[in-house]
Amino acid sequence: MAVTIKSAREIELMREAGKILAVVHDEMAKALRPGMSTMDINRVGEQVIRDFGCTPSFLNYNGYPAAICVSVNNEVVHGIPSKKHKLREGDIVSLDAGVCYKGYHSDAARTLAVGEISSGAKQLIEVTRQCFFEGIRYAKAGNYLHQISAAVNAYADRYRYGVVRELVGHGIGSSVHEGPEVPNFRQRRRGIRLIPGMTLAVEPMINMGKRDVEWLDDQWTVVTADGSLSAHYENTILITDGDPEILSMR
Ligand code: MF3
Ligand code: CO
Repeated sequence: MAVTIKSAREIELMREAGKILAVVHDEMAKALRPGMSTMDINRVGEQVIRDFGCTPSFLNYNGYPAAICVSVNNEVVHGIPSKKHKLREGDIVSLDAGVCYKGYHSDAARTLAVGEISSGAKQLIEVTRQCFFEGIRYAKAGNYLHQISAAVNAYADRYRYGVVRELVGHGIGSSVHEGPEVPNFRQRRRGIRLIPGMTLAVEPMINMGKRDVEWLDDQWTVVTADGSLSAHYENTILITDGDPEILSMR
């Protein structure tokens, strides 16, 4: 898919899409509690998106049946919300959402604790978030794309966590998925050079155990092959000559 450079007008729209998505995540985090279903969380997120007059980027994307991806514990990404799946104290839940504002998309994910969780789970969540921030230290015009990938990988390695390879970050704009791919693992090539006006979704997916994943029969839900916990942290960022602008964060 094509790599696009956004105009000042497009960047303005993406900033707005990002700001709204930050609110969506805040509201889902506030609503989260043991006993609620993964569908309840989807409803909260979708309602906030619609209250802003926006549309959920993921609903019907390649046939995905919901607004929010809700992935619990050993589920890595693309968990499908269900009324029957109730969250329990001690679970970790990854919420991935996309907002379309006037034709432009934002994409962000957070892994949250349901009530009190184990210290191991807390560390996984924190390290996955830090993988993103380690990666984007290199997200600057003139640098090579795969410097981001290497930095994410190196930080996860320090904890001997598994870095998922089957799914990657991506360019984003008037489509949720544009070029370039943004892998979270070390590459043999340098990749493209970053240019101001590129907008990227950087999204480490990190397993407490081995990196291998499998797909459930629903053809969407990605789970760890060894059953270990997995965390996801994603923001939409804008490449500039200096530090990147994180569009989907307050
Ligand atoms: N953040 C996810 C991704 O980048 C969003 C796509 S989920 C889908 O792959 F359900 F919409 F496909
Ligand atoms: Co994404």
